[in-house]
Amino acid sequence: MSLPSINPTKTEAWKMLEKHFEEMKELQMQDVFSEDLNRAERFKIEWQSFYVDYSKNRITEKTISLLSKLAKEVKLKEAITQQFSGEKINETENRAVLHTALRDFDNMKPEVESTLQKMKLFSEKIISGSHKGFTGKAITDVVNIGIGGSHLGPEMVTEALQFYKNHLKIQFIANIDGDDVAEKLKKLNPETTLFIIVSKSFTTQETIANACFVKNWFFKNATEEDIQKHFVAVSANEHGANEFGVSKNNIFPMQNWVGGRFSLWSSVGLSICCAVGFKNFEELLKGAFEMDNHFKNEDFEKNMPVVLALLSIWYNNFFKAESEAVVAYSQYLNKLVPYLQQAVMESNGKSIDRNGKKINYQTGTIVWGNVGSNSQHAYFQLLHQGTKLIPTDFIGFSESLHGNIKNHNILMANFFAQTEALWEGTHNKKIENSFKNFEGNKPSNSILIKKLNPQTLGSLIALYEHKLFVQGIIWNIFSYDQWGVELGKTVAKENLNAIENDDISNLKNDSTKKLIKQFSFFQK
Ligand code: F6P
Repeated sequence: MSLPSINPTKTEAWKMLEKHFEEMKELQMQDVFSEDLNRAERFKIEWQSFYVDYSKNRITEKTISLLSKLAKEVKLKEAITQQFSGEKINETENRAVLHTALRDFDNMKPEVESTLQKMKLFSEKIISGSHKGFTGKAITDVVNIGIGGSHLGPEMVTEALQFYKNHLKIQFIANIDGDDVAEKLKKLNPETTLFIIVSKSFTTQETIANACFVKNWFFKNATEEDIQKHFVAVSANEHGANEFGVSKNNIFPMQNWVGGRFSLWSSVGLSICCAVGFKNFEELLKGAFEMDNHFKNEDFEKNMPVVLALLSIWYNNFFKAESEAVVAYSQYLNKLVPYLQQAVMESNGKSIDRNGKKINYQTGTIVWGNVGSNSQHAYFQLLHQGTKLIPTDFIGFSESLHGNIKNHNILMANFFAQTEALWEGTHNKKIENSFKNFEGNKPSNSILIKKLNPQTLGSLIALYEHKLFVQGIIWNIFSYDQWGVELGKTVAKENLNAIENDDISNLKNDSTKKLIKQFSFFQK
């Protein structure tokens, strides 16, 4: 069955929200906390070791109830059931969307179980050193070669779980930038390095070119038969991986119902397993599984992904906020934003609805940000005193992993201070100097988690996965394709042809022609 395809702007709830917005848009909301002593209690969700406070938003109870009504009218509940039950909700690619099946410990598919088993055995051999390289030495370095979803998730998680890491050094070659590849290879010894080529399609230009380059580098010291000890592949295209030279045994399968940007839970997570061990990887999956259950079963108004998605819709579609920031008060999460950028913007950057019609409302928020407290000394000026409304998610943890409580308390005091300062501003204070005035009324969500560990990280990632799904359903778009990345790939091939053959005559665009001419001239 197809997903419901309801234009959200035609619903009764949307019309009511438009009216409600007229009442809300000019309100300076700072005083609501003194007027309603229950506000912080009412607008919070406690779940496992998560505490989400969304009281510092430009909302009332009516806002939340109208937004929930919107979710009901677009048949969100039905869509959730369709996704989890494996219906082909990625209609434009005729595929199911089942990254949740990769962590469904209640009902694990045999192919998922066998792949997990294969990842476990392999990563254990790499970590223990029983897997030997071509000169009999243990592996010391693991390099993930892949891009997009075959890079961002594993890198973000590996970085986030650094505290739980073993002795192996993990690197990521993603960019086709040859200088970056050279810099990374400079630090590697072919005798002790394992390369994991990760590409669902095994046709991605950057990954294949980088993998070929690395293979040639390897052959400077090793032979064709040594390849089996140093190259494994993660792919849904077994034939392609095989053609490249990876033996069947060394190929970790991927299912076509796993989208690239949701694939870190699959064999794409092999570098994570090597970095932190299978047990921790399993904990990560369990955390995501717990969040899946919360998302599936909780009422909308107490459902973290749903509430965060609805708030985002409120600002995006009614306040016309164009972007939202994510600021994690943990250096470990410094790769979270690039990961979310792919997840959110590749999924929801769409302008055709599920009926194939051009959309005349805003979709796809721009996600940006960096870690706190660094960000406070960079772009927070704009959040506080700029002209744009930028709702912000603050993420932080109660425990310091290394026990540096003094620093950690300063860090988190800043987290709490920023959400308060953004909200209160200098409201009700007499400020003589207008340059020192803070309007306040700037919304934020505070996501406070007890401790960063594999399980809570899994839940956090799944929270954002489900949030973007909810938004896609409400916006009436297909979140799980990414046709928008294809055109650029075709044009790049034409341009590469022109560069390699030193012939720009077939290029269409005069600006591009001149650029390529100049590029070649500079190269000579
Ligand atoms: O170009 C975008 C994209 O298709 C992403 O969706 C995907 O994560 C990435 O390329 C890499 O694809 P693959 O794993 O097939 O190499």
